[in-house]
Amino acid sequence: MRTELSFSTLSGIEIDLLAVLAADTQTAKGPDAKPQPVLLTEDEAIKAAAATVLASGEYKAAANETLLLHAPAGLKAKRLLIVGLGKQAKATVHSVRNAAGTAVRFTKPRGIRELVFALPEADLLPPGPCVRAAVEGAFVGDFDADTYRSDRKDLSVQSFTVTAPAGMDKKALASAFAEGVIVGESQNFTRTLVNEPGNVLTPTVFGQRAADMAKEVGLQCEVFSTEKLHELKMGAFWSVSQGSEEPPALIVMRYEPEGVKDGPVLGLVGKGITFDTGGISIKPADNMEKMKYDMAGGAAMIGAMRAIALLKPRVRVIGIVCASENMPDGKAQKPGDVQTAMSGKTIEIINTDAEGRLVLADGLAYAKQLGATHLIDAATLTGACVVALGMVNAGAFSNDDETFDKFSAALATSGEKFWRLPLGEEYAEMIKSDIGDIKNTGGRWGGAITAAEFLKVFAEDTPWIHLDIAGMAWVEDARPYIAKGPSGIAVRSILEWVRSY
Ligand code: BES
Ligand code: MN
Ligand code: ZN
Repeated sequence: MRTELSFSTLSGIEIDLLAVLAADTQTAKGPDAKPQPVLLTEDEAIKAAAATVLASGEYKAAANETLLLHAPAGLKAKRLLIVGLGKQAKATVHSVRNAAGTAVRFTKPRGIRELVFALPEADLLPPGPCVRAAVEGAFVGDFDADTYRSDRKDLSVQSFTVTAPAGMDKKALASAFAEGVIVGESQNFTRTLVNEPGNVLTPTVFGQRAADMAKEVGLQCEVFSTEKLHELKMGAFWSVSQGSEEPPALIVMRYEPEGVKDGPVLGLVGKGITFDTGGISIKPADNMEKMKYDMAGGAAMIGAMRAIALLKPRVRVIGIVCASENMPDGKAQKPGDVQTAMSGKTIEIINTDAEGRLVLADGLAYAKQLGATHLIDAATLTGACVVALGMVNAGAFSNDDETFDKFSAALATSGEKFWRLPLGEEYAEMIKSDIGDIKNTGGRWGGAITAAEFLKVFAEDTPWIHLDIAGMAWVEDARPYIAKGPSGIAVRSILEWVRSY
């Protein structure tokens, strides 16, 4: 998708489709309070073209509600698309992100390949963040998951132009625009990885994709396998891999900005289970195909590292992905087995399907050994997190309020939804083992929390954030601004968290 930033007068733009925003300005409540949609542009010709239909009451400017006008009088554009932001008082930069995605997804099935998206006036929402969000939203909207359909028609938008009202700070907008392109493309890079089936994206291929990307953007990247796991005594990680014909991949990416020799080192650790059968504690057949996306946390870290390499924050970052299949086999680990993690802690395996925490245990320890002073991990870790928060919020945990506050602040920019859940000694008790140090499950209740407590044992005293994205990594029902399929959740939030250092 080609993208461009322009400051042209809207009514004069020759284009297949011009998208403008509308919001509902009705502040009264109750049955008589009819929506009062207004266009968020000062362009008189556009207002005139839409006046009749807006007065009809047919269009309410609800969030992502669309209305298409052909051959709008007084405009050079062939079509005028009005996209709703919902109540004006509640409209945010994130509403603009979604509206841009909605505009793109509106055009795709209609074979419209070029569009212009008009930003709202500056007094309503901050222009810089709006430009960035609009571009991100466009990339997100442009993604479809049907890559392997043999009759697939590539309906991708070819050209997306954001038009800002004249008089805005052009330099600031241009840099916000460039950021949006990098972030949007990186999020889609993650989504492409998550979308790949398990037979295509083995741990080895996953590592290769990361290495190829790293080369392109100038990141250091090494991909290790079985031997290195043994050398590092990664007994927890290896215990998951030992039951698979496919060798594991330990992906290590490094971003070291020139001249930055001290300060924090941020360690990003992702769960990269390229397929999770459950192992010997095998999962039921229903929905097992979904477990190809059990590497979404790892893919999020790879996408975030891509964006970091291109946006160049002044902080050192290490990205680690622990990639493996979780398979049942003659060599697979069994419930009751005891494994020794890299840190020396012993783990009693209760359920081989609680494999994510095992690979992450060694990933976190390794990040610390490589010098990480702050840790963040992302994983499709527990069904329990989905039970707790549904497919609305992802779970977040931390052993350090100051570190978590920075993550909370990052959410304001990313627009992603995470909800902090508690940790505590009583939960830690639930994973004490009778035979060794800890066990890999803590029973049915509070399953997302006991999983986090397990990881905390390996983060130790290092400030750490854990993101459980099990319910959010896959969009089950398409929305106007995003297709069904991989969401790319966490890429934007992790990136913003990194940039806050
Ligand atoms: N990959 C799953 C968690 C998951 C569930 C991800 C649903 C996405 C959607 C994880 O490895 C797993 O199997 N967790 C178990 C843990 C249990 C055995 C303690 C679970 O949640 O059932
Ligand atoms: Mn599992
Ligand atoms: Zn899993």
